[in-house]
Amino acid sequence: MKQKMDEIKKNLEVEMKDVEDLKQLNDLRIKYLSKKGIVTELSSMMKEIPNEEKKEFGMLLNEIRTYVTKMFDAKKESLEKKALEERLEKEAIDISLPSTRVYLGAPNILEKLIEEVEEVCMSMGYDVVDGPEVEEDKYNFEMLNIPKGHPARDAQDTFYLEGEEILLRSQTSPVQVRTMLKGRGEVPVRVICPGKTYRRDDDDATHSHQFMQIEGLLVDKDISLSDLKGTIDVIVKKLFGDDVETRFRPSYYQFTEPSVEVDISCFNCKGKGCNICKHTGWITIAGAGVVHPNVLRMSGYDPEIWSGFAFGFGAERMAMLKYNINDLRVFYNTDLREVKHFDRGELKNDD
Ligand code: DAH
Repeated sequence: MKQKMDEIKKNLEVEMKDVEDLKQLNDLRIKYLSKKGIVTELSSMMKEIPNEEKKEFGMLLNEIRTYVTKMFDAKKESLEKKALEERLEKEAIDISLPSTRVYLGAPNILEKLIEEVEEVCMSMGYDVVDGPEVEEDKYNFEMLNIPKGHPARDAQDTFYLEGEEILLRSQTSPVQVRTMLKGRGEVPVRVICPGKTYRRDDDDATHSHQFMQIEGLLVDKDISLSDLKGTIDVIVKKLFGDDVETRFRPSYYQFTEPSVEVDISCFNCKGKGCNICKHTGWITIAGAGVVHPNVLRMSGYDPEIWSGFAFGFGAERMAMLKYNINDLRVFYNTDLREVKHFDRGELKNDD
């Protein structure tokens, strides 16, 4: 009997190896476990077994039935697993396939330059502030020490909106006044204000009726021209490179005394002379100076105690220099080829 059972087990193992799918497995199950199956038929031998051996026979019968059933269950499980894996593989979506390229655009290059200036100034403790583009004459001129009738007003070709009092700001300098008035005599005042400005200019490669300035103001105790120089130097080096030098030339603005023009050594030719610096080795990028006592006084700061410096960068000019752009209109027309050309602010020569 035992021998017969071992034979059944062996046969089953061999036959099981050839089973490849659930249908074949089911056929095999019928062969072994159905009413007329090999294992079931074994039990019908019970009646021929002598009584004293019946118990052992019964145990052997149970054992083989359990064994065979387990084998079928295990095979079923592995076949189902295999089928699932095959299905998953067949139905898998290849996410590595390249999709159609969607062009997302890029930040405006002028905006990128302004953000760079903001970042370096914030690292020195400056706040970035805003001011209105529709401005009052009082802030744009009078409180900057440019009274009515002053010839300096003519140079600023201002757009007046209502009579003589409301205008489109011709510079970001009125934000100096607004900031000090808000500060109510508190120090230190440390702000930069990037923003749009307007003048009645005919648009060409280097002029625009709308352009951007980045104004800076610092008011504290014992502030001098050398503090201004140090600050400008940090900004310039961050933007144009560590080997770029700063130079101040005497100038004249009504709201600063002394006033200067800020030049940087040409980052392109390193001072040797090239078309960017018009063969002078230097490039002018800002107006600046020590805040005029009248301006401090009018905005509530006693010039006997406090002093300050201010600067105003021309944003387009800086971006044109940095990215070697020779037409200012590039910033304002919406030609996607240019956006693409300066994608993420990097010049791509192969585009
Ligand atoms: N607002 C001046 C302009 O538009 C630029 C300027 C010069 C700003 C000197 C300043 C400064 O803050 O101190 O021409």
